[in-house]
Amino acid sequence: MDTVYFDHAATTPVDERVLEAMIPYFTEHYGNANSPHGLGNNAKVAVEEARENIAEMIGAEPAEIVFTSGGTESDNCVIKGVVNATGKTEVITSPLEHHAVLHTAEALKRHGAKPVYLEPNSKGIITAEKVEEAINDNTAMVSLMHVNNEIGSINPLAEISEVCSKHNIPFHSDTVQSVGKIPVDVDELGLDFLSISGHKIYGPKGIGVMYMRHATPWLPWMHGGSQERRRRGGTLNVPGIIGLAKAMELTQKEMDDHRKHFIKLRKRLINGLDKTFGDRYQINGDTENGVPHIINISFLDPNGDGLDGEMLLLNLDVEGICCSNGSACTSGAMEPSHVLEGIGLDEKTANSSLRVSLGKQNTAEEIDYFVNKLKEVVERMMGTVKA
Ligand SMILES: Cc1ncc(COP(=O)(O)O)c(C=O)c1O
Repeated sequence: MDTVYFDHAATTPVDERVLEAMIPYFTEHYGNANSPHGLGNNAKVAVEEARENIAEMIGAEPAEIVFTSGGTESDNCVIKGVVNATGKTEVITSPLEHHAVLHTAEALKRHGAKPVYLEPNSKGIITAEKVEEAINDNTAMVSLMHVNNEIGSINPLAEISEVCSKHNIPFHSDTVQSVGKIPVDVDELGLDFLSISGHKIYGPKGIGVMYMRHATPWLPWMHGGSQERRRRGGTLNVPGIIGLAKAMELTQKEMDDHRKHFIKLRKRLINGLDKTFGDRYQINGDTENGVPHIINISFLDPNGDGLDGEMLLLNLDVEGICCSNGSACTSGAMEPSHVLEGIGLDEKTANSSLRVSLGKQNTAEEIDYFVNKLKEVVERMMGTVKA
């Protein structure tokens, strides 16, 4: 078997249909969308159509969509922009957020801001009650992700937004891992801001969206030209924008089919793990209500030594299997995943983890191959495993 790719939460291949939609904007309609001539206008028209389509897909107005370079930039722009505009200091968030949110909130400490980290439950969920308890006169905003990128748990955004709107606090959600996977509508979820990234949904890398509700306090962070109504300077990434709109359209249309496919594959994987590892493994996070395509597994070593997760990944890579442990952005660092530690896992269990994130092209055969190879690798690393 060639490469088995189980790292779709890190990134996805570009869908052929997305690529096809993008190509003319590299070669034919290559004008700068801000240029005062026909070529520029062609690009501009296509960008505005993409903006309208994206807005409609998330229940927003076109003018509320700002194109960025991806999830990280959107998270930065929102948080820095709101803290700057409100002049208030506290950013309520959670220790399970992506580093794009966590490190932004930490960086703002130098400017007098104070991140407030709410405690998640063992499934990785922040409740609306926790948010209500934390809000005070100094709260600038609340930023809580929709779907967690490591364990797949889903925060109850609609309940949290009720609390935020009662106290008139801007509410941002990093929806990078939920758009295209579960329904995202800014009014139904009550969001003032959200972040989207193209490359998690079979679109290109380096393109994203920041949604910002009209009249919410916010100041621009990226200064430059007059693009995006002066909210984000910089020449527009026209092929990227076209690709993002196409990727969103396709993932929304195909969402139910993908979900059914993931549920089947997940079931097959868990059956295989049960048969192979018995009680020597556990699934981390919300096993009942989380998204079905993110499965975070820890292996329990009977000798109590814990399994070296980095070695596990390397051994699987040798077998042609691409997985991850922790967020891909941090896997260069050897620290245990902040998410697994955040839901209360001890260091050994957190270090022995593996994230399988499924994609639409994965097959039942790949799951079987993976389970067999996993058995061989884990046996090599910690002795015979018997279910
Ligand atoms: C939840 C979440 N937020 C933000 C990001 C960053 O997105 P981008 O790679 O587009 O900057 C990621 C990517 O791993 C993510 O999973």
